[in-house]
Amino acid sequence: MSHYIRYESDPHTQRKDSRNLRRMLPFIWDYKGRVLFALLCLVASKMAIVGVPFILKQVVDTLGVKGESILILPLTLLIAYGALRLAGSLFNELRDAVFAKVRYHAMRRISTNVFNHLHRLSLRFHLDRRTGNISRDLERGASSVSSILNYMVFNILPTIAEFILVAAILFTQYPTRFAIVIFSTVVIYFIFTFLITEWRMHFRHEMNALDSKANGQAVDALLNYETVKYFNNEKLEGQRYDQTLSGWEQAAVRSQTSMSLLNFGQGSIIAIGVTIIMVFAGQGVVSGQMSIGDLVLVNALMLQLFIPLGFLGIVYRQLKYALADMDLMFKLLDRKAEIRDNRDAQPITVKEGKVSFTAVSFAYQPERPILDNVSFEIEPGQKLAVVGPSGAGKSTLARLLFRFYDINDGVITIDDQDIAQVTQQSLREVIGIVPQDTVLFNDTIFYNLQYAKPDADKEQVMQAAKLAHIHEFIQSLPDGYDTMVGERGLKLSGGEKQRVAIARVILKNPKILVFDEATSSLDSQAEKAILAALSEVAANHTTLVIAHRLSTIIDADQILVLDGGKIVERGTHRSLLEQHGLYAHLWQLQQEEKTETVVQDV
Ligand SMILES: Nc1ncnc2c1ncn2[C@@H]1O[C@H](COP(=O)(O)OP(=O)(O)OP(=O)(O)O)[C@@H](O)[C@H]1O
Ligand SMILES: [Mg+2]
Repeated sequence: MSHYIRYESDPHTQRKDSRNLRRMLPFIWDYKGRVLFALLCLVASKMAIVGVPFILKQVVDTLGVKGESILILPLTLLIAYGALRLAGSLFNELRDAVFAKVRYHAMRRISTNVFNHLHRLSLRFHLDRRTGNISRDLERGASSVSSILNYMVFNILPTIAEFILVAAILFTQYPTRFAIVIFSTVVIYFIFTFLITEWRMHFRHEMNALDSKANGQAVDALLNYETVKYFNNEKLEGQRYDQTLSGWEQAAVRSQTSMSLLNFGQGSIIAIGVTIIMVFAGQGVVSGQMSIGDLVLVNALMLQLFIPLGFLGIVYRQLKYALADMDLMFKLLDRKAEIRDNRDAQPITVKEGKVSFTAVSFAYQPERPILDNVSFEIEPGQKLAVVGPSGAGKSTLARLLFRFYDINDGVITIDDQDIAQVTQQSLREVIGIVPQDTVLFNDTIFYNLQYAKPDADKEQVMQAAKLAHIHEFIQSLPDGYDTMVGERGLKLSGGEKQRVAIARVILKNPKILVFDEATSSLDSQAEKAILAALSEVAANHTTLVIAHRLSTIIDADQILVLDGGKIVERGTHRSLLEQHGLYAHLWQLQQEEKTETVVQDV
């Protein structure tokens, strides 16, 4: 939230800034021809613009002289005057036009880079992040690249170029005191601007921090719209929001008034400088050393120089903000992915689909072990069920099989290949999952179904939907397959989402299947129908089923009972019942529940 403040207090800011600027260069260098041409245009337009006052001087001087040639000479000069102005503006626009491609191309490449990098980062990172913040970093980072280029090419470099030109002219054409006054004015101007801007920055930081906070509160409250209503807390939310905004208001007012101070100070310095120069020029004219044209020229040059200088204070501040944004973006790019392919990783080859966990131990955080020495095998084409209390680590098994995390100990293999040694891409291709919570893209149902296999045709998608018993429901919707599912798929019921997930797996048709409570949100009737369909799909597939309702896994070839990260029992349904252990106890409980509901229903 207050990343600007953190950024500012960093003593290495300067070095970091220049390092970041250097990192930006390769993105610009794709179009080096254009960059060079734009810089040439910049110099040309500045030369033309600085040339204008010279012609003006000639015009004034010529008109001042009483002679016959008066009617011819000024005309040429006046045309030259117009031509120069035109050239100035032409080269200026040409520079913008040529540079546009460089700018937007750099933005696009950097954004794509960051986006791809984000997808490379592991689940751990994504569970910790705040989506809003990351997307802001991405957005700000990309626009910072554009604004830095903008300021550089359109403000800072031109101003420097112009300053050097003007100073050189004054220095060579006029007495040294002109150059000295200009030079000191600019130096004082810079120091003043720098100091005041540094002082003002903290108002801006405060404003930004409070702005982000208010934004966060608003977004959070809106996301939790239902919860706010359930607890009648609209007023509380409104007050909290307003409180933050009142702090923002104060900071904003201070920032604005201090800006006026800055502007006035800058204006005064310029006014004093220009006055002194004009006094010198006036003296020069009186003493006959200078013509009236010289006076006009000096005045025009000064004004021309100070106008862009006036923007420099703003540009300086904006540049600092942009550099801070860019730094955040590069920090994101510098994050190392936790799960990476080995350098010599090969794609996995799966013929049979035998899955084996050998002495696997795993912890999300070192101080809290989740799985402890878990070993099991799923023979090709067989079905293994995992049951156990909530939090036992069942879904974790599925995450490890997908290699979302690396295990701390032991080894997981598929057809005798260590999953940590093969490419992640090929590994994830051979496994399909119906996750415990299905989240959908805010797009059409068709898009979400087809996502499992982007090259599937409509026929295949519908076939999968039919197998998952969702085709008829979709057909009954006014927009059919084109129905939008809402944010995260929230416009669909839990059971409907689950069936979309099942259809997706059917469409993907991988060798190994994982069902994590795949039918938990379905009513008994729908569940029965889908289980029949699933066992058809799962025939010849190696299947890992995680289930709460034991009745759904009676037919499993092997059942593991997981408790506290350990396998406490294993066997078939029948043998487990005979053991009279945890499984038998759970089975007993669920049977009782069932008869109770039957009794209630009657
Ligand atoms: N990303 C994570 N970081 C830290 N701890 C986690 C993370 N994900 C899960 N856990 C913890 O790991 C344990 C096992 O989680 P898991 O999701 O495997 O449970 P489960 O057996 O599937 O439970 P349920 O039946 O409720 O789905 C839980 O106690 C959970 O709090
Ligand atoms: Mg789970």
